[in-house]
Amino acid sequence: MSEETLDKIVSLAKRRGFVYPGSEIYGGLANTWDYGPLGVELINNIKQAWRRKFITERTDVVELDSAILLNPKVWEASGHVSNFSDPLTDCKKCKARARADKLIEEWNEEKNTEIFPENWAGEKTPTSDLYEFININKIVCPKCGKLDWTEPKAFNLMFKTEQGVIEGEGTQIYLRPETCQGIFINFKNIQTTSRKKVPFGICQIGKSFRNEITPGNFIFRTREFEQMEMEFFCKPGTEMDWFNYWKDFTYKWFISLGVKEENLRMRDHEADELAFYSNATTDVEYKYPFGWGELCGIASRTDYDLKQHIEFSGKDLSYFDEAAKEKYVPFVIEPSLGVQRTALIVLNDAYTEEEIKEGDTRIVLKLHHTLAPFKMAVLPLSKKLGDDARKVFDLLVQKLGWNIDLDMIGSIGKRYRRQDEIGTPYCITFDFDSLEDSSVTVRDRDTMEQERIKIDDLLHYFIKKFIF
Ligand code: GAP
Repeated sequence: MSEETLDKIVSLAKRRGFVYPGSEIYGGLANTWDYGPLGVELINNIKQAWRRKFITERTDVVELDSAILLNPKVWEASGHVSNFSDPLTDCKKCKARARADKLIEEWNEEKNTEIFPENWAGEKTPTSDLYEFININKIVCPKCGKLDWTEPKAFNLMFKTEQGVIEGEGTQIYLRPETCQGIFINFKNIQTTSRKKVPFGICQIGKSFRNEITPGNFIFRTREFEQMEMEFFCKPGTEMDWFNYWKDFTYKWFISLGVKEENLRMRDHEADELAFYSNATTDVEYKYPFGWGELCGIASRTDYDLKQHIEFSGKDLSYFDEAAKEKYVPFVIEPSLGVQRTALIVLNDAYTEEEIKEGDTRIVLKLHHTLAPFKMAVLPLSKKLGDDARKVFDLLVQKLGWNIDLDMIGSIGKRYRRQDEIGTPYCITFDFDSLEDSSVTVRDRDTMEQERIKIDDLLHYFIKKFIF
């Protein structure tokens, strides 16, 4: 996979209505993206596949949809107000802005060495140490080549806004930078109303916002994105067993969606890389067209968050274990995934250019059936057959309730190519013989093999293909 592949995916995504550049008619808004008809389907299918595996199929996990706007004390308690920042420095010569910790990391990579400031903790290293190190080692601006940086300053990544009708007199609040804090503050509500006993999990899918310094690589890093997070509450002392369990579970979920194993790897965080709330973290990394990068994180968050909310809210969020007659603050394991990052990797793995005969190539998105925006497309061979084909479409869509296309425009060959490009697993062609034999031709996207199937058998045929 190369950067060229990413360009091809971006182009296909726009051409076929998956993802458009945001605010395009006004010249755009950098690094924002709008999801078109097929993009919405793909995103919803990813969320649905995650919900099904992490929630529906389990009896020990429930779901929450908390507000995006939370009491600002939540972010004080979680540590985001004081810690959720990047050390930014500006080049005084060309005004380029950079992350001081990244400058040091890139300098090391370039020199193939590992020399860091003493007590190096990435972005958490004191800004004065970063500044000193950059100057001693003469790490110049990558844009203009000069060495004239301002002293790095901690820049908080949370978007601020105001709640209240009178400008300047409202309460300052934040757009949430992660969905999980909504879960922690509702732990007691959910535990008591759902009557779940520890160990159990609470999931949330929703938007998060971060004023990222270096967004980019299409939908990989944006300032507005969706997360699928689970906080799994367990008894202190059992967290490492659950940590390993959820690592394995999450990895297998990606594989079950057809993600290529050769593009996935697990990377354990070193002790000095761990977030302040974590005693173990593993990232699932993916080989993106631009290199290996984080796809999702599985973190053992200890009892940090619940304890912080107990302290800041003054409310008791501990758990009473009836069987053991024991009271404790649960420990937490958190698998946390980005929805759009998942969309990017499934598009990347699915994108295929195939030579079908000499000089003739087709683009086909070999998406897992579960994720394909359309499960099938009904194609009348001629416009004259439109009404009859529509009856087949109505039958399938009403009985199966899946998203199905009815594609009438263009030659049949062009329509097959169009459906291949958007990843539709099956095309159903209604031809003139169909009027006589009440059968249709079903074409498989990947093998391009065709089968004649009785219309009366279609429902059974597809239920077998998709469900069993
Ligand atoms: N609650 C823990 C948490 O938010 P994180 O590693 O900061 O952890 C979890 O984020 C996941 O959310 C990442 O692995 C990634 O998939 C996604 N994510 C984070 N920042 C993102 C961004 N700016 N754009 C797109 N996805 C992002």
